[in-house]
Amino acid sequence: MFSFAAVGVLLSATVALSAPATPPPTPQGGVGLEQAPSYHITSDFDFASVNLALNQEYIELDLFHHILAEFPVEQFEAEGLTAEDRFLIEYMADQEAGHAILLSNMLGANAAKQCNYSYPFDSVRSSIDFCQKLTRFGESGVYGFLEHLENRASAEMLLQSITTEARQQMVFRQFEGLFPMPVFFETGITQSMAWTLLSQYITHCPEENPRIQWQNFPGLSVANDPTQAALQLEVTPAITHNLSTPLTTPGQQVDLTWEDPGKSVGPDGLYTTTTTAGAAKYAAWISQLNITYTPLSNITENFASTYQPFAQVFGPGTAPVVNDTMFILVTDDNPYVTPANLSLLNPHVVAGPALYQSG
Ligand SMILES: *[C@@H]1O[C@H](CO)[C@@H](O)[C@H](O)[C@H]1NC(C)=O
Ligand SMILES: *[C@@H]1O[C@H](CO)[C@@H](O)[C@H](O)[C@H]1NC(C)=O
Ligand SMILES: *[C@@H]1O[C@H](CO)[C@@H](O)[C@H](O)[C@H]1NC(C)=O
Ligand SMILES: *[C@@H]1O[C@H](CO)[C@@H](O)[C@H](O)[C@H]1NC(C)=O
Ligand SMILES: *[C@@H]1O[C@H](CO)[C@@H](O)[C@H](O)[C@H]1NC(C)=O
Ligand SMILES: *[C@@H]1O[C@H](CO)[C@@H](O)[C@H](O)[C@H]1NC(C)=O
Repeated sequence: MFSFAAVGVLLSATVALSAPATPPPTPQGGVGLEQAPSYHITSDFDFASVNLALNQEYIELDLFHHILAEFPVEQFEAEGLTAEDRFLIEYMADQEAGHAILLSNMLGANAAKQCNYSYPFDSVRSSIDFCQKLTRFGESGVYGFLEHLENRASAEMLLQSITTEARQQMVFRQFEGLFPMPVFFETGITQSMAWTLLSQYITHCPEENPRIQWQNFPGLSVANDPTQAALQLEVTPAITHNLSTPLTTPGQQVDLTWEDPGKSVGPDGLYTTTTTAGAAKYAAWISQLNITYTPLSNITENFASTYQPFAQVFGPGTAPVVNDTMFILVTDDNPYVTPANLSLLNPHVVAGPALYQSG
């Protein structure tokens, strides 16, 4: 028969097995575990980086509201986007408002305010494609500098907002009917690369906004841009779609055209494109963990051709380096750089980046 005495024996046996009852010692190492964290940003580098990120959050906030206001419900429905899908976009705008509060608090009294924007789309489908691209460079722009921030406490909170943005990016791809994440790794780009892309869509900012301290590279465009193929796909929103034919394939010719430096760009035309690079020689493909170069051919003053590289991230059988929505630039050299020293590529940029929508 069961007795309390028997329970007592069982309990003492359990205690004996796990003794001694002291916590394991904290492993050696780790950074910032001893002092009280401060989330306030002080260094110039951190301020300039988070200021850029705040400007990115603001355009997303405006953009998500804008597309909901711009297009009638029937046009969303015609693209297979329901009331619940539209609520998700509305909720993403709320997330952006939250992110803007967070970054403003980190920056303090001088934090930028919202600006005015112009958008390159005229339909629900092309607006969703634009959201998918804007959040791609928003996300990658932060991954590029997160590692280099001095204030690790604020870097952590910034990451917690960019993780949400990464989910938005994937949802927009799903809304577009694309394969949601055809990569093993989400890539990073430098602040100047992100600012070159972002500045194209900001028309006017409040005068008191702090100036963006990063370089604007000359504009680059992909003449035979695969985006057009993406916009014509006969696909509906879904968690995932195998595209019957990929948008682009390795080896295919890619035609690039770029602008001369010295052009006024960005809000109120207050920024000017510059380059310190010599003559154009390579296309740099930034995707996954890789910076891959292909030689340019048929180079004239502002035009050259190249081909989509064959490289796979960890060799044959792993993910193609070029897939998803990724970045392409024209450079004067092909220095070996990796995600943590990508900024050493900045002095070699002739033009770009442009987004290249491969898969
Ligand atoms: C410019 O941006 C401000 C702040 O978001 C907004 O109040 C204003 O309506 C915008 N103006 C235009 C013309 O979009
Ligand atoms: C990536 O790109 C290739 C074409 O280069 C395509 O066949 C493949 O399905 C894409 N998606 C994934 C997940 O690799
Ligand atoms: C989807 O694409 C993958 C990779 O190309 C292939 O192995 C798989 O059979 C496809 N599945 C369907 C249902 O089309
Ligand atoms: C370069 O130009 C030649 C002659 O016009 C043409 O045959 C070739 O296909 C071009 N190559 C590329 C990569 O554009
Ligand atoms: C891509 O980057 C990874 C990590 O640095 C590296 O191991 C791999 O060799 C690179 N792949 C290519 C094709 O360059
Ligand atoms: C960038 O870092 C890699 C190591 O990850 C190193 O091999 C390479 O030389 C560095 N590039 C430059 C231009 O210093």
